[in-house]
Amino acid sequence: MFTLGIDIGTSAVKVIVMNQNGEVLRTVSRDYPLYLFGDGCSEQAPQDWWAQTVIALKEITTDYPNIAAVSFSGQMHGLVALDADGNVLRRAILWNDQRTTAECDYLNNTVGREVLLANAANIALTGFTLPKILWVKNNEPEIFKQIKMVMLPKDYIAYMLSGVAATDYSDASGMLLLDVAKRDWSDKMLAIAELTRDNVPKLFASYESVGTVTPQAAQETGLPTSCKVVIGGGDQAVGAVGTGTVEEGTCSVSLGTSGVLFVAMDEFAVDNSPAAIHAFAHATGRYHMMGVTLAAAGSSKWWVEQVLGTTDYPAEQVDINELGRNKVYYLPYLSGERTPHNDPYARGAFIGMTMATTRAEMTQSLFEGVAFSLRDILVRVRALGKTVSTARIIGGGANSPVWCQIVADVLNVTVQKIHSDEGPALGAAILAMVGAGVYASVEEACTKLIKTTETFTPNPQTAAAYDKHYAVYTRLYEALKGSYSEIAKI
Ligand code: XUL
Repeated sequence: MFTLGIDIGTSAVKVIVMNQNGEVLRTVSRDYPLYLFGDGCSEQAPQDWWAQTVIALKEITTDYPNIAAVSFSGQMHGLVALDADGNVLRRAILWNDQRTTAECDYLNNTVGREVLLANAANIALTGFTLPKILWVKNNEPEIFKQIKMVMLPKDYIAYMLSGVAATDYSDASGMLLLDVAKRDWSDKMLAIAELTRDNVPKLFASYESVGTVTPQAAQETGLPTSCKVVIGGGDQAVGAVGTGTVEEGTCSVSLGTSGVLFVAMDEFAVDNSPAAIHAFAHATGRYHMMGVTLAAAGSSKWWVEQVLGTTDYPAEQVDINELGRNKVYYLPYLSGERTPHNDPYARGAFIGMTMATTRAEMTQSLFEGVAFSLRDILVRVRALGKTVSTARIIGGGANSPVWCQIVADVLNVTVQKIHSDEGPALGAAILAMVGAGVYASVEEACTKLIKTTETFTPNPQTAAAYDKHYAVYTRLYEALKGSYSEIAKI
């Protein structure tokens, strides 16, 4: 009995095959283009996601033709707009796109934060989907008029496989159209978007099957028509399933393109502070809170590949040895920043270099800056009453032992890796197992399938040194904030 986990990421689609003991038998990854242009625009073509997913699926089904169920994890928030015939109307505007400042101002200040918090549990942030819909309405009215259906990146792939326009509560939480507490579309928010319930997908729990693979998709991908299409969820919630972060108060940290600190919770809670910790549905059927720093492993990729001109990541880390003593600071705001500043104009910065500063210290400062940014999130999560003493870590950055140790020391929490580094794709394959009826619940599947491996324990001296550096770090954004908006206006 095999299931597939399909992760529609920002740089690639990753498909894994898993058996019911949780063993990953095969992984296929296929890249697609990311269009970055203008001042913070970020788009991808849904047709590219589908084309590369088909190629990956064909490769897998050649060896594993009997797949019982597939499920998904997807980059969140991206606006996929379809016309009445199901055709893609424009490239998807992605989670890290920053063009919607005017729409967010309108939503937060004219519609009002109270209305948004009461109806969608969150305020408007440039990454969320509703501001993108309003941007299309304001700037591309011809396209807006033709919109029949809006959906999220992974939903498009589920739609192409099953013919059903479906989404799940976790991913829909990031659209600003869902009444998260009630787990239903908000008519108030839909009216603000000038949409109706006919323009949004049917809602499912992440582990529910929305249908089976259509004959046409079966022919294209090699999947059987009996294969269940289980809707899955947003990459953060599904990634958390993949680390077993499902019980109340458990925490995971993701060092993917973006960095996320995620806490599972049984009871729904809203953050009405300006930091706007997200209050979203979890893929388990309950809730979670999380904060997002927009360039985590994205910062490391930019630094190592674009600036240093290499792809040898381990070589750049061998000389990092003294944690807590580096006096170079890095602000990881290459894509603006979400939590806690919600500032699309924020930009990356290195501060504190001398003539003696080494390449390794610069790399180290980058790992530390991302960890400080995660600490910014942890501070707010604790202020909301959550106790966090352990975190499970995933994402490309988690392959770096020194980065994991820095995260442990800066957050002063024990960091654990798990047996697999498949991340959200693993969570998706687990949801497919639950959808196929192999496990009764997501929790049961996680208890049986997820094992922790390496542990990074905070060193008290280093943690104390990082407390001092963190105090400096938090003041740097405040000092630069005015200049960031001034630069944006030049
Ligand atoms: C979550 C978020 C990102 C994307 C891309 O709110 O914006 O983590 O899901 O991975």
